[in-house]
Formats: sequence, structure tokens, C-alpha cells
Amino acid sequence: MKKTLENIIKSRRSIFPSQYTNGVIPKTDLLKILESARWAPNHRKTEPWRYKVLQGNALTDLGEFIVEQFSLSTDKAVPLKLKKLQEKLEVTTAMILIFKYRDKKESIPEWEEIAAVSMSVQNMWLTTHNLGYGCYWSSPKPFVDMSEFKKITVEDREEFLGFFYIGTYNPEEVASSILTERKSIDQFTQFVD
Ligand SMILES: Cc1cc2nc3c(=O)[nH]c(=O)nc-3n(C[C@H](O)[C@H](O)[C@H](O)COP(=O)(O)O)c2cc1C
Repeated sequence: MKKTLENIIKSRRSIFPSQYTNGVIPKTDLLKILESARWAPNHRKTEPWRYKVLQGNALTDLGEFIVEQFSLSTDKAVPLKLKKLQEKLEVTTAMILIFKYRDKKESIPEWEEIAAVSMSVQNMWLTTHNLGYGCYWSSPKPFVDMSEFKKITVEDREEFLGFFYIGTYNPEEVASSILTERKSIDQFTQFVD
């Protein structure tokens, strides 16, 4: 398929760790992904996105930290789902922790900052896809306080918005997931003359 912007947008998908092949992603490519994050639109030039990139042992540490946080929140046994999450992190090449920074002046409504971070993540998603890697945004776990994760520095006024998984994958093996159902334009648009 020709690499037009339209095709890149349409063929972008969530690619999950079960599809990752645990390959190497050069630092230059990670920097390209983060470079695209810089250019997202944002109101009053607050540039509210903050990212922490984890690789190698830091991913194992993250998995252990999430399990610890679960155990601190409840007496229940660690569910299989969380053990599986640790396995998912083992096949993930890089994890970008997504944070939103709220400026002290609070000069614009908070939703606009979340919107700007989301646009920045979409830039990364499209760039990751264009480079031939798989990725997806996973929501925060309610029982996890990421500011307690000692491997990263979380500043005051930074709020965690989720996990951006990145991995190598074989596009041929996930080709069947490319065609997903979407609403047609007339289902979500009102045209007015
Ligand atoms: C803000 C946000 C949070 C998401 N959180 C999760 C999540 O926690 N778990 C998950 O499996 N997918 C998550 N996704 C990915 C969506 O499930 C995915 O984008 C949707 O199914 C559409 O598929 P596509 O990305 O392949 O087009 C999230 C996506 C967004 C934008």
C-alpha cells in the first residue's frame, strides 16, 4: 500500500503485546517517535505532554511494581491477569509512560490539556506505525500510583494518563485485524448549508 497520509491514518491499528516479537528498536527510531510528539497542537503553547521511556530491566521493574501496588491495595491474591501483564511487558521493546503536566497558572481548562496530550500520543502512534512497529495506548490501572514508581521522576502537577506500549511485530500475521468496522460519516456528522 502506498504511504500516503490517508493510508497511514487508515491502516494504523492497536497492536498488542501478544503480537510482539521482542525485537530491537534503535534509539534513533524512538527519538523519531518522540520528535513527532513535540509537534502536536496545544492551546497557549503549554506543551503539556510529559513522557518517561522504559526499556530493558525497567520494564521488568514496572511489572513488579504494578503487582506490588495491587498487593498494597487489597488482601486478594494477585490475579492471573496481572501475571499475564508481566509477561506482556517482557515482550515489549519500549514503554512510554504518558503524563499530563498542568501548568501552575491553569490558564486553560484541564480538558484542553488532556486533548493536547492525546494529539501528541496520536502523532506518536502514527509515527510508530509508519516506522513499521506496533503500539497501543493502555489506560491507567486504578490501583496504581505511578508517582510511587522509584525508577522514574514524577513532578508535582504531572498526572499519569496511561501506558504506550511499543514492540516489533510481523505485519503479515496481524493483517486480518486491519479491516475493522467504523461508523460511516453520516452516522456522526451533520452537514449544514
Ligand atoms: C485513551 C485510550 C485508552 C485506551 N485504553 C486501552 C486499554 O486500556 N486497553 C486496550 O486493550 N486498549 C485500549 N485502547 C485502544 C483501543 O482499544 C483501540 O484504539 C480501539 O479498540 C480501536 O482499535 P484501533 O486502535 O486498532 O483502531 C485505548 C485507546 C485510547 C485512545
